[in-house]
Amino acid sequence: SEYCFGGRVLCVAEKNDAAKGIAEIMSNGRSRRREGMSKFNKIYEYEYHLFGQDVTVTMTSVSGHLLGLEFKAQYRKWHSCNPVLLFDAEVQKCCPENMKQIKRTLEKEVRQCQVLVIWTDCDREGENIGFEVIDVCKAVKHNLQVFRAKFSEITPNSIRRACETLMEPDANISDAVDVRQELDLRIGASFTRFQTLRLQKIFPESLANQLISYGSCQFPTLGFVVERFKAIQAFIPETFYKIKVLHEVEEDNVEFSWKRNRLFNHTACLVLYQICMENPIATVTSVTSKPKSKWRPLPLDTVELEKLASRKLRINAKETMKIAEKLYTQGYISYPRTETNIFPENLPLGPLVEQQTQSPIWGTFAQRVMEQPGGPNPRQGKKSDQAHPPIHPTKYSNTLQGNEGRVYEFIVRHFLACVSQDALGQETVVDIDIAQENFSSSGLMIIARNYLDVYPYDRWSAKVIPVYEQGSQFQPSAIEMVDGQTSPPQLLTEADLISLMEKHGIGTDATHADHIETIKSRMYVGLTADQRFLPGELGMGLVEGYNSMGYEMSKPNLRAELEADLKLVSEGRKDKQTVLQHHIQKYKTVFIESVRKAKKLDEALSPYLGAAQEVAEAEQQDMEFPLPVRKCPHCGQDMVLRKKREGNTKFLSCTGFPACKSAVWFPDTVLEVSRDDSICLTCLPHPVHMLKFKFRRGSLPHMMPLEFVGCIGGCDETLREVLNLKYLRAGATANKPAAAKKPRTCGICHNPGHTRVTCPQR
Ligand SMILES: *[C@@H]1O[C@H](CO)[C@@H](O)[C@H](O)[C@H]1NC(C)=O
Ligand SMILES: *[C@@H]1O[C@H](CO)[C@@H](O)[C@H](O)[C@H]1NC(C)=O
Ligand SMILES: *[C@@H]1O[C@H](CO)[C@@H](O)[C@H](O)[C@H]1NC(C)=O
Repeated sequence: SEYCFGGRVLCVAEKNDAAKGIAEIMSNGRSRRREGMSKFNKIYEYEYHLFGQDVTVTMTSVSGHLLGLEFKAQYRKWHSCNPVLLFDAEVQKCCPENMKQIKRTLEKEVRQCQVLVIWTDCDREGENIGFEVIDVCKAVKHNLQVFRAKFSEITPNSIRRACETLMEPDANISDAVDVRQELDLRIGASFTRFQTLRLQKIFPESLANQLISYGSCQFPTLGFVVERFKAIQAFIPETFYKIKVLHEVEEDNVEFSWKRNRLFNHTACLVLYQICMENPIATVTSVTSKPKSKWRPLPLDTVELEKLASRKLRINAKETMKIAEKLYTQGYISYPRTETNIFPENLPLGPLVEQQTQSPIWGTFAQRVMEQPGGPNPRQGKKSDQAHPPIHPTKYSNTLQGNEGRVYEFIVRHFLACVSQDALGQETVVDIDIAQENFSSSGLMIIARNYLDVYPYDRWSAKVIPVYEQGSQFQPSAIEMVDGQTSPPQLLTEADLISLMEKHGIGTDATHADHIETIKSRMYVGLTADQRFLPGELGMGLVEGYNSMGYEMSKPNLRAELEADLKLVSEGRKDKQTVLQHHIQKYKTVFIESVRKAKKLDEALSPYLGAAQEVAEAEQQDMEFPLPVRKCPHCGQDMVLRKKREGNTKFLSCTGFPACKSAVWFPDTVLEVSRDDSICLTCLPHPVHMLKFKFRRGSLPHMMPLEFVGCIGGCDETLREVLNLKYLRAGATANKPAAAKKPRTCGICHNPGHTRVTCPQR
């Protein structure tokens, strides 16, 4: 073999259950179990034949992500900085406390091994978790060889195939997750801190201590709920009119419906009705009978599983995915996170159907599928993620209980339905004419129920219609003009919401359920008794507030573009850094504007939460979270503008206070000073922000304007003089408060506004 190593291979799965299942298969049930340092993640050891040699495998697991992304310590506290800085603040990957034991286990075990095989789930998150494991292991053992096992189910065939075709881990896929994590962290933290701190202050009674989170998926999801609610509120019912024809034939009461369906003009309908009533004889104009089929379902992907479980089993998406995940790690079903609804040609379906023939409940149906001409014949969809097949059972079970049992049964029945045959029927349509108005009625005869026999979640009812002959005439038993009202759309169900998220590209099939859960747990939305989403007051106000700023915060566009870029990164078609920078800039722009227009948020919320507390103007935010003006020449930390508690005196203060007492006091001739976005090109260390000044009339040399943008980094001689900026020189930590520079009354004109030097009469 081209690989030569001492014979020990470390394998790492995403969860303990998966490690256990894979070990059991690879070892034929003969693995030795021992404890790792984390009591939830066991170690399984066994012999295996890999790379043409006998090796000893150490199989263990992580518990999802091993590392988390966070800001460097100085940014972590809520009041530590202006939230806008979080778009650029340094971040790092850290191992959370509850994962440390797992990390130590890996570090210890890998020392004995020469090869690492990643067995995490084969999706984006799994690939990223794989790279976390690789980083941890390579830090201990630099020359480690690394492979990736690709599999969609924990079954003997699938695992054996994965071992025979070990690959390289795909860094591009992992990069997409890194980009998503970093953007979620920056966008989430900045907006969440900004809106929480502001709104808690403005609505102290309603929102004290409430976290008002923002997420770039959460908000559009909330937006869908609010939009539907508003459509219902804005709905004005309209009255419509229609003509209905009834015909009693022995036992049957046949209803014919009007071809015009309905009219909104009462007079117009009445006129037609009267014409019919003048000559109420019906003539049968046509009787047609044609085959009609009801299609069997498409192979099951994640979104359909979530929607159908929510609709048919009344199990919500989050719970469904939790159960499906468990069924997968226990080997009952294939990987449940998939966008594919086409069965690949190389997946033999016969054995999968065969397994189910032992069921006392659907076994007979499975047998029928085996015996149908050509065997299992899946209806095929159009989507493939090129990674996993549609969700299907991989093992028969009759022991699963409760919701686990229901979800498993659903997946089996759906699978058997989609590989069987469409239901077939014969539909008869009878058209009649009364005074040149057309009506029709139809009947359905079901010829072969086929897939419906195994799929109780779909209904198709036969409808009897008596025999009519073309050209014959009859007298209807009644012709009625009826009215009705148009009805508003209904609040969204979870299935509706998932459809909207999918349609607009919010989140991925793997995350829909989580975003929905988040907006529920934040109390942005609630559920009605019939499980429909109703926006809460906070949710309504936030969406209206951001909408009124003119931003697409609660609209799907921003996030959908990001989601599309992530896909391109994972396919290696776009570069990680470019995508990251592009979206950070985009959201930062939106953030800055949102802060500027924050009053709109207060206004939108106050109808729901009561009067807004007056907060001292826009400056308030700036003062609470001053932005850095320059680095302190003494300790290197940021210097920011602050205002003395009483009075209007401003000063430049070091954030290292009280350890560092560096400060620049502005004389009281400075009426206003604020940070300008521009940066001095000469002063060091970069960046030194320029300041915008407004001076008292008469306090400056005659030729200087009273308002200007200047640099206090030391390059501007005049400003240094005017402000008495000594702090820049070695030794001095603060300039003297400005009393020294108070302008005296002019000795020539006796005007207190200026000095002798600048007196115009001089
Ligand atoms: C309603 O229909 C009548 C009769 O066809 C017509 O005269 C009238 O203009 C219609 N009204 C409206 C509002 O369209
Ligand atoms: C009724 O049906 C006939 C035949 O299909 C058609 O020619 C006629 O236009 C229809 N009448 C109305 C009012 O729709
Ligand atoms: C990963 O992306 C780079 C470009 O960013 C590309 O050259 C490379 O082929 C990709 N790798 C894989 C395995 O797709």
